[in-house]
Amino acid sequence: MSTILAPRPDRPLHARIERAVREDRARGEFKVHRSAFTDREILQLERELIFERSWLYLGHVSEVASPNAFVTRKVAGHPILFNRDRDGKLHAFFNTCSHRGALVTREKHGQRRAFYCSYHGWAYDDVGKLISVPGKESMAPGLIESGDMDLREVPRLAEHCGFVFISLDPNICDLQTYLADAGDVLKLVSEHGERGMEIVGGTHDYGMAANWKLVQENSADAYHTTSTHASYLEYVQSRDGSRDPVDPKVRAGWARDLGNGHAVIESEGAMPWGRPYARWVTGWGEAARDEIDAIAHGLVARLGEARGRFIALGDRNTLIFPNLVVNDTLAVTVRTFYPTDVDQVQITGWALAPVGESASSRDRRMRNFVEFFGPAGFATPDDVEMLELCQEGYRNQHAIEWNDISRGMLKEIPAKGDELQMRAFWRQWHRAMQNGPRG
Ligand code: FES
Ligand SMILES: [Fe+2]
Repeated sequence: MSTILAPRPDRPLHARIERAVREDRARGEFKVHRSAFTDREILQLERELIFERSWLYLGHVSEVASPNAFVTRKVAGHPILFNRDRDGKLHAFFNTCSHRGALVTREKHGQRRAFYCSYHGWAYDDVGKLISVPGKESMAPGLIESGDMDLREVPRLAEHCGFVFISLDPNICDLQTYLADAGDVLKLVSEHGERGMEIVGGTHDYGMAANWKLVQENSADAYHTTSTHASYLEYVQSRDGSRDPVDPKVRAGWARDLGNGHAVIESEGAMPWGRPYARWVTGWGEAARDEIDAIAHGLVARLGEARGRFIALGDRNTLIFPNLVVNDTLAVTVRTFYPTDVDQVQITGWALAPVGESASSRDRRMRNFVEFFGPAGFATPDDVEMLELCQEGYRNQHAIEWNDISRGMLKEIPAKGDELQMRAFWRQWHRAMQNGPRG
């Protein structure tokens, strides 16, 4: 584990923020100062101005599919209890007992009509109401009835196409406005399955010695694929016989700024790997071909030629500001991550799949998912290594101060392998960080 010695701040924080992103549109030059990855005061400000003021991904509706289902997880460092009450309504509570603060449940997931704090036994129902207190005759009168000691709900919760978000900021704009054009990309991903989508196969939890923003950059960085992931491409080539595009009518790839710091890189049929929904490759064998073709035809029949074909053949890596990644490529992964220090990040990833998918299609999906996205797969260990190398390299920021994120900046439509998506993130980051502390 590396510890970065932050360079001695040479100017006030607001001035360090102001110079952190430098852009010259006429010359096509976009630079990010490396202190943005190493300065602990910048991290502290990110916690206040970004994580406390954005819509943050909480989970997927399928994780709490039935009444009284719940999951627990941390969002921006806050332990959260995410549940569906007996009437089907979604809630996000701060997972802390009103008595003396213990987590009201330590379980990762389950099914409960009531939550019992294990410390002194206070109990809360599925809408967060305090319902029983052992020895309550010794407590102040009206303790339960007043509602003052009920669980506290997170200020904002909203759902879009199965993706559930929360915000710690009660005054944030509504989720649709926040998502801007990213809303339609999430909708497109949700349309893979006629009966919706579900999280399957547990959770990937892993960490790395790198700044959290490196993960956001890397998650939609087509430029690094051939160099960092050469071993995966060689594997695909040896299995499927060719790196050539699968479909001769490919649309090779482009990047789109989706507004508010969100972006996507997309292509239609240009990538060498197979998509369970629905792009066949030779390595899956002739026996799989009919089923995959049938899935592709079904998508076109259900959604129309353009959208159905785009889902079947297309790949898309989507970045939702500040820290949600939905990569719909050789499988669908949902990934979120938080800093635990300026040079440490914890990542959580899930696989998303169509409800009711056949066993054979699910098998192809999960093999692809684990082979590429898994913490021990072809891609993730290589990415971890590259991002840790970047972080390590920032020790030399006295010698080279700036990262270059200019690729494709002068093009009318930047290519998938350009860096428009990173610039979209950094512009929003810069705006948010210059808003100043509230109050
Ligand atoms: S801390 Fe929960 S009952 Fe005391
Ligand atoms: Fe990668």
